[in-house]
Amino acid sequence: MISSKCNSVTTCALMLMSLFSVIGGHSEFSGTSVQTVHRGKSVNISCKYKPSSDTENLTVELKTNNTLCSLMKSNSSWINQSCIDHIRFIPKTEEMSFEVSKLQVNDTGTYKCVVTRIIPPPSELLSEEGTFVQVIAHPKVSVSHVRASDGFHTILCLSEGFYPSALEQVWMRNGGFQNVSLTYNINKTNPDGSFTLHSYLNVSDCTNYSCWVNHSSLSQPMIRHLPPADCYENRGARSSKHQRVSHANIFTNY
Ligand SMILES: *[C@@H]1O[C@H](CO)[C@@H](O)[C@H](O)[C@H]1NC(C)=O
Ligand SMILES: *[C@@H]1O[C@H](CO)[C@@H](O)[C@H](O)[C@H]1NC(C)=O
Ligand SMILES: *[C@@H]1O[C@H](CO)[C@@H](O)[C@H](O)[C@H]1NC(C)=O
Ligand SMILES: *[C@@H]1O[C@H](CO)[C@@H](O)[C@H](O)[C@H]1NC(C)=O
Ligand SMILES: *[C@@H]1O[C@H](CO)[C@@H](O)[C@H](O)[C@H]1NC(C)=O
Ligand SMILES: *[C@@H]1O[C@H](CO)[C@@H](O)[C@H](O)[C@H]1NC(C)=O
Ligand SMILES: *[C@@H]1O[C@H](CO)[C@@H](O)[C@H](O)[C@H]1NC(C)=O
Ligand SMILES: *[C@@H]1O[C@H](CO)[C@@H](O)[C@H](O)[C@H]1NC(C)=O
Ligand SMILES: *[C@@H]1O[C@H](CO)[C@@H](O)[C@H](O)[C@H]1NC(C)=O
Ligand SMILES: *[C@@H]1O[C@H](CO)[C@@H](O)[C@H](O)[C@H]1NC(C)=O
Ligand SMILES: *[C@@H]1O[C@H](CO)[C@@H](O)[C@H](O)[C@H]1NC(C)=O
Repeated sequence: MISSKCNSVTTCALMLMSLFSVIGGHSEFSGTSVQTVHRGKSVNISCKYKPSSDTENLTVELKTNNTLCSLMKSNSSWINQSCIDHIRFIPKTEEMSFEVSKLQVNDTGTYKCVVTRIIPPPSELLSEEGTFVQVIAHPKVSVSHVRASDGFHTILCLSEGFYPSALEQVWMRNGGFQNVSLTYNINKTNPDGSFTLHSYLNVSDCTNYSCWVNHSSLSQPMIRHLPPADCYENRGARSSKHQRVSHANIFTNY
């Protein structure tokens, strides 16, 4: 149900845990929140830290397993140390944050904003705020007739490039679900970390078939119909080595 509350532009935050703590005289909340974001979009990772005075000298870092971006505040001005592409520091006084843009599925993970006071020494950890970023990608769904041979047809429902991996894909006929044990599934991982699922079904008559797909990136399940013409055009073509594979209803209107 995550998706019904988050469209492709907005992100939704869900506080899983929050702990009130007092560290070094500063009060702040720390914990892990979850943000669900569509592939290609941006997310803001809040540091949940409000500097106590303008003269404080700090470092602020955005980390996953590695440090992605690091800045230092000295004499009230921010100095860039190193930031990878697609990451921008937003030095708002009320709430510092990092904007991570152009998210890909392999950017899914826990991001930590770490604030450390450096002067006067010794350095002291002021705050560490974790955010779990779940990148989601919707499937591109197509339905096609693969081949006709001795009295039956093989039809294919294909969902490409979705993330995370959980996806439901079921054949329907005349409004009723087909027994899933008759479907042959092939599940592949793409180079970018997303998934593709092929579902083949052998049928004696390929009219009125449709494929039902549900995924966390979709606000509601989608249904793609097998165009009847695909079926008739392929009848009797059993000896052809290079069968036409037509992809119908390619879903791109996002
Ligand atoms: C992140 O914050 C900046 C500044 O407040 C804002 O302009 C931007 O739209 C925010 N981005 C997201 C994805 O919320
Ligand atoms: C911050 O660092 C600068 C030198 O980089 C120093 O002159 C200044 O006094 C420091 N501020 C505090 C509050 O320690
Ligand atoms: C980060 O570290 C965790 C645990 O050490 C590991 O499972 C994960 O694959 C690492 N992520 C990246 C992007 O290297
Ligand atoms: C920082 O400010 C203090 C006093 O405001 C000044 O003495 C010091 O030279 C400044 N340091 C730097 C690195 O600008
Ligand atoms: C920090 O570095 C990035 C590129 O790494 C640059 O685009 C940005 O303008 C720099 N910001 C400051 C405050 O120097
Ligand atoms: C595809 O494979 C992944 C990893 O092996 C698995 O976690 C996932 O449940 C599979 N998805 C489907 C729809 O079968
Ligand atoms: C689906 O097919 C399997 C094996 O062919 C069978 O055991 C099962 O009862 C069928 N389920 C339904 C709901 O028809
Ligand atoms: C469909 O029929 C072909 C040819 O007999 C067979 O190789 C394939 O395994 C069948 N597929 C399914 C999903 O039953
Ligand atoms: C993540 O995926 C992108 C393509 O979407 C690829 O360019 C990048 O190298 C991948 N990063 C890692 C750490 O696997
Ligand atoms: C396909 O659907 C139509 C209308 O629902 C129905 O009249 C027809 O009998 C169906 N064809 C098959 C082969 O089930
Ligand atoms: C579709 O999937 C979402 C979560 O991924 C689930 O919450 C929802 O109930 C599903 N819808 C249907 C009709 O199964």
